[in-house]
Amino acid sequence: MDAIEYTFQIEKGDFVRAGEAASSIKKILRQVGAETSLIRRVAIAAYEAEMNIVIHSDGGSISVLIDPKCVMILAKDMGPGIENIELAMKEGYSTATDRIREMGFGAGMGLPNMKKCSDEFSIESKKGKGTTIMMNMCVKDGE
Ligand SMILES: Nc1ncnc2c1ncn2[C@@H]1O[C@H](COP(=O)(O)OP(=O)(O)OP(=O)(O)O)[C@@H](O)[C@H]1O
Ligand SMILES: [Mg+2]
Repeated sequence: MDAIEYTFQIEKGDFVRAGEAASSIKKILRQVGAETSLIRRVAIAAYEAEMNIVIHSDGGSISVLIDPKCVMILAKDMGPGIENIELAMKEGYSTATDRIREMGFGAGMGLPNMKKCSDEFSIESKKGKGTTIMMNMCVKDGE
């Protein structure tokens, strides 16, 4: 089967539709018969990436390339970028406001979880420009 690609636009601050891209990706993976634990990892990583775009960015997009033995997720946004990536990657680090924390976000676990779910993880960010995250995950041997 050829790889299929989908792109979802993610709006800044849109908590009504937040999570829809990750849900759609999960549904597509089920439809193509992707392996269950791969679907789980992709769904978590895509959800965390989507929420970060909604909460911390000026808007962006999430693209997935489905193999279906491997899935690549590309999350891109238009800013404001991350000044200190090493700090942002630390478990528990969050700049979320009280309002965001009251909504149940801001544990500072999104980026570390995305990395854990991925076989390959890369993040690039420029202050004032934007952030791009690339994650690749494949079915593990024996699954
Ligand atoms: N796309 C982004 N644009 C700008 N800053 C970001 C972006 N993604 C993450 N950050 C910064 O990195 C910090 C850590 O992100 P992470 O996803 O780990 O935690 P969180 O979003 O604050 O909380 P949680 O994901 O647990 O709800 C954020 O608080 C924010 O300061
Ligand atoms: Mg987050």
